[in-house]
Formats: sequence, C-alpha cells, structure tokens
Amino acid sequence: MNTINIYCYVVFIILSETVQIKSQICEKTSQYGECSTNSACGCFHMLGANDNTGVCGFLWPTCSRLVTCNSSDNSCLQSSTICVHHPQCDDRPLCYPTAMIHENKINLKWTQNAITVAGGNGKGQELNQLYGPAGIFIDKSKNIFIVDSENRRIVEWKYNARQGQIIAGGMDQLNVKRDMIVDEQNHSIIIADERNRRVIQWSNEKQQILIDNIDCFGLTMSKHGFLYVSDRNKGEVRRWKMGEYNNTGIVAAGENGQGNKLNQLNSPSFIFVDEDQSVYVSDWGNHRVMKWRKDAKEGIIVAGGQGAGGNLNQLYYPQGLIVDDFGQIYVADYWNHRVMRWYEGDVEGEIVVGGKGGGNQSNQLNSPTGLSFDDEGNFYVVDCWNHRIQKFEIIL
Ligand SMILES: *[C@@H]1O[C@H](CO)[C@@H](O)[C@H](O)[C@H]1NC(C)=O
Ligand SMILES: *[C@@H]1O[C@H](CO)[C@@H](O)[C@H](O)[C@H]1NC(C)=O
Ligand SMILES: *[C@@H]1O[C@H](CO)[C@@H](O)[C@H](O)[C@H]1NC(C)=O
Ligand SMILES: *[C@@H]1O[C@H](CO)[C@@H](O)[C@H](O)[C@H]1NC(C)=O
Repeated sequence: MNTINIYCYVVFIILSETVQIKSQICEKTSQYGECSTNSACGCFHMLGANDNTGVCGFLWPTCSRLVTCNSSDNSCLQSSTICVHHPQCDDRPLCYPTAMIHENKINLKWTQNAITVAGGNGKGQELNQLYGPAGIFIDKSKNIFIVDSENRRIVEWKYNARQGQIIAGGMDQLNVKRDMIVDEQNHSIIIADERNRRVIQWSNEKQQILIDNIDCFGLTMSKHGFLYVSDRNKGEVRRWKMGEYNNTGIVAAGENGQGNKLNQLNSPSFIFVDEDQSVYVSDWGNHRVMKWRKDAKEGIIVAGGQGAGGNLNQLYYPQGLIVDDFGQIYVADYWNHRVMRWYEGDVEGEIVVGGKGGGNQSNQLNSPTGLSFDDEGNFYVVDCWNHRIQKFEIIL
C-alpha cells in the first residue's frame, strides 16, 4: 500500500506544471452531475464560485486522502489542489487534487523495454533462477520478494542482486502457489499455502496456521487491519480481522457460488483493497475485474467482462491487480501477454506494457501474473513463463 501512495505523490509532481483548470469548468451542472462522456467524472462545485459552477473531475477520489480547506479563507495549502464541495466525503470543503480533473490526463508512462531484475536464467531451482513465479512484493529498499511457484518457495532478491535467497519453503513443508504478503514491520510473511489449503504466517522460520481448509489464492491486507483471502473453489473473498482468525471470517465478495452474475465470481485470483475498503477481484474465469464496495451485495464490472479475447475491452484470464488513488486499475492480462489500465467507467482499457505477443524479448511478456510498483513509480511485472521479473522504468 505504501508504494501506491508514494507513486501517486509522483503523479502530483509531474502534473503540477501542466494543470489547466479553465477548460474543465462545468456550468449549470448539479453537484456530482454529468460533465463528460466519461461516466467516472462528475461536477464538483467550487467554493466562492456561482451556484452550479464547478470543476469536472474523477468522482471517487479516496476520501481519507483529501484534506479540508483552510476554514477562514477556503484556500488550500498543498500545491495543485483546489477547494471544492464534496459532501459525500465531508461536509466541510475539501482540497481536491487538480490532477484528477478530467482531460488533465493522469497519463503515466513506462519504458516499453524492461530490465530483468530477477530470474531470466531459464527455469530451474538454482538461486539465480525462478520457475513459474506468481505473486510479488517490493519493499521500501526495492528488495523483491517473489512467490517462486513451481519451486514452492519464497525468495528474496536484494536490490540489484544477481541471485536470490530462499526465505521460506524450498522443502516439502510449504506448497505456496500464488500469493503472499510481506509484513515489513515485523518481518513476517503471510502465505497462501494453496496446495495445503491453508493460510500460514511465517516468521523466523517458525510457521503458524492462520486459516485452515481454504482454497486460498490471492491475499491482501487493508490499512484497517483486515486480511482478505480469495477462495478459488467457492468463488468468494472473505476477510478476517488480523489476529482474530476463525473458520468463517466475513464475506467481502461473492458467496453465491461460482458463476457470472454480478453477485458471483468464477475462480477469483488476485485481489486488492483500497482505502475505502472496496475489494477489487480479478475474476479469472469470467475475464473481468469486479469491484465490491464494503458490505455490497453485488459487485460492479470495472474492467473486461466482454468474454475472453484480446480486444481493448476484453481480458483473458486476469491475474495481478493494483488500483491507485485515482481509481486506475492495473491488471495483468495473462493470456494476452500484456498489462492493461482501466478507469472505472471506461468501456475499454489501454495497454500499459507488453501486448506484443507472447515472447521473451525485453518488450514482450509471456503470461504476466503479479504486479507491483516501487516507491519511485517504476513498474514491476512477474513474467511467469519467462521465469523472470521485469522492471519497466517510469518516464518522467
Ligand atoms: C488560513 O488562512 C488565514 C487567512 O489567510 C491565515 O492567516 C492562516 O494562517 C491560514 N491557516 C493555515 C493553517 O494555513
Ligand atoms: C507480526 O507478527 C506476529 C507473529 O509473529 C503477528 O502476531 C502480528 O499480527 C504481526 N503483525 C503486526 C502488525 O504486528
Ligand atoms: C469470525 O471473525 C470475524 C472477524 O474476523 C467476526 O466478525 C465473526 O463474528 C467471527 N465469527 C464467529 C462465528 O466467531
Ligand atoms: C527466447 O526465445 C527464443 C525463441 O523461442 C529461444 O530460442 C531462446 O532460447 C529464448 N531465450 C531465452 C533466454 O530463453
């Protein structure tokens, strides 16, 4: 989660010089009213302006990230923010980042040729090799933690290292398949030990079963202290208060059997939770990404959902998933060998990296799985069947 915040901070810096508010005024439009062909945008009334005048911006910025305006003169201290009404978040006026004003595209780009930062030495179990990697985590020092799936181990590649070190598994005790979470604070790892049907915590080579009898695939942790786990066979996501594990947890998405209705999932894989506790699910078997707001009874389709295929409005077995503070959804489009970015409300996504056919050139991927950013906004893609981790540098 930290990486995302810092990454968005980068966005603000980049965009602060190109902000053009004038062209984005919405007049005679109600608060949150339609102001663009992009359904993810609405009118935010400005302070001090005439009634029904505002700026046209992204409707769902994360409330907790917006600070209140100066109550005496409605100014905003932070650069590149503007004081608007946003009663859904707060009754008091809030400073809204101009970067989220529509047309002022948050169009981050990365180099299309990647550097291999781990693996890339063919498949195998030597320390400089990976075999079918899946989940990934990058810490603040850019050390890379990888679920080395077919080797049934978790490895850490220190920043700029030429080989990794095994930090969990590698022997029969662990059957980790896809995903894990690194708890930087106390150096423990939570692992979806899928083949053993359990979620375990691993610290100092000691292991503890947290949740048993679960076909766990994806894992994520929220800032509110919940652990979320996707269950591939039941087609659902559940959450547990960290430290208070029981057999049931609380349903966060699904629970209506496997299927393709809005209240169902079909083999959910990777998951993500935002600051508003909405859960995003790579709905693998339905070739779509679903968003379930907290306590919702059904989800909304935020990417794909047009059947399996390689068009820009389609996904093909989605895997790794990250959502940034602007609501931009990054998803590893496994079978299309590309990573896509979608805005909630858009009818099609755009290719971020890959999309040049499955292959092992530096601008190609072969079945991407996990995704991560580092604290500078560089983008890391687990290139599963090339047995390597690709780093795409951000273009500033
Ligand atoms: C708010 O605005 C007033 C008047 O311009 C100013 O004196 C005060 O320092 C501001 N407060 C903050 C926290 O910036
Ligand atoms: C850290 O690890 C311990 C087990 O070693 C665990 O009980 C605890 O919940 C973990 N997380 C935090 C934030 O302390
Ligand atoms: C199981 O844990 C969740 C939170 O982790 C809690 O809300 C729920 O009430 C618990 N269920 C039972 C049966 O104890
Ligand atoms: C890349 O792919 C080509 C063609 O399939 C193959 O001959 C070559 O060995 C591969 N290189 C690596 C490093 O795997």
